[in-house]
Amino acid sequence: MDTVVSGIRSTGNLHLGNYFGMVRNAVKMQHENRCYFFIADYHSLTTHPHTINLHMNIKQVMAEYLACGIDPDVATLFIQSDVPEVCELYLLLNMNAYVGELERTTSFKEKVRKQPDNVNAGLLTYPVLMAADIIIHRANKVPVGKDQEQHLEMTRKFARRFNTMYSVDYFPEPDAYNFGEKLIKIPGLDGSGKMGKSEGNGIFLVDDEKTIYRKVMKAVTDTGPEKPDQEPTEPVKNLFTLMEAMSDRSTVEYFRQKHAACEIRYGDMKKQLAEDINKFTTPIRKRINEIMEDKTYLAKVVREGADKARESAGKTIRDVRQIIGYKDF
Ligand code: TRP
Repeated sequence: MDTVVSGIRSTGNLHLGNYFGMVRNAVKMQHENRCYFFIADYHSLTTHPHTINLHMNIKQVMAEYLACGIDPDVATLFIQSDVPEVCELYLLLNMNAYVGELERTTSFKEKVRKQPDNVNAGLLTYPVLMAADIIIHRANKVPVGKDQEQHLEMTRKFARRFNTMYSVDYFPEPDAYNFGEKLIKIPGLDGSGKMGKSEGNGIFLVDDEKTIYRKVMKAVTDTGPEKPDQEPTEPVKNLFTLMEAMSDRSTVEYFRQKHAACEIRYGDMKKQLAEDINKFTTPIRKRINEIMEDKTYLAKVVREGADKARESAGKTIRDVRQIIGYKDF
């Protein structure tokens, strides 16, 4: 059986990009693999969340994971900060991670650009903590979206480096996983780039029907194709990508033909897309809200998840200490 690890930062509600990049695959993989899914709340500290919001953000993502179908009786579902063993592995891996390679990471360079006032060491070593999350359970598969590809490459590098350094074959080198398909990138509604939390271009699983309708109707398009069979422009291509994720194949085909024939009315396409998104998210939203109310259930899930995750992480830490050369007195 393969071991699977994946997580999402608790920096806001989950959006469709999170769903298709990670959560949907997590749900599909949980029965055939040994799975660890978690909320990356240590990672969320890199952007300095307010104390008042920290707990609520974690609780929200937990309810969202559960509402989407991650089953805590099958997978180990936990909060990163409930497993302090990961901090020890993070520290140990940091000794073999080089500042130069960390500075060259795309996500780091992007943060430096976006938040020049808060370039903290946690941001620099973000990929090391992520590697620790993954290899502490000795995972081989990591279901993530396209944006995490480079982080996975670094994870493999850190795992390999540890093995080489101590002449062991201890950590597997994990791969980003999407059932053999290309990794998924769900575009945002603003015409360029991926769907994100911070960018204000996302559709969240908890958005109500009206909000979703409003957001989709406002999505950027163009003035329409000018000649038959023309390649759609970037914003329109994005709309089609979203539709491919959300709608029936025949629906997508219908609008593709309309576009190819220069007969497309983007308003119709958006209306259909909003309807299909709502059909999908409405039951999930209802479950999220129910689970958020069920304190006893959430507390039980969190407690049991932490116990299971710590057991696995603790074993790795004991092995790693021994490999490095720590001995009992
Ligand atoms: N970096 C991931 C994100 O931004 C979150 C994450 C942290 C993660 N640790 C991980 C994902 C380990 C997969 C495995 O969403």
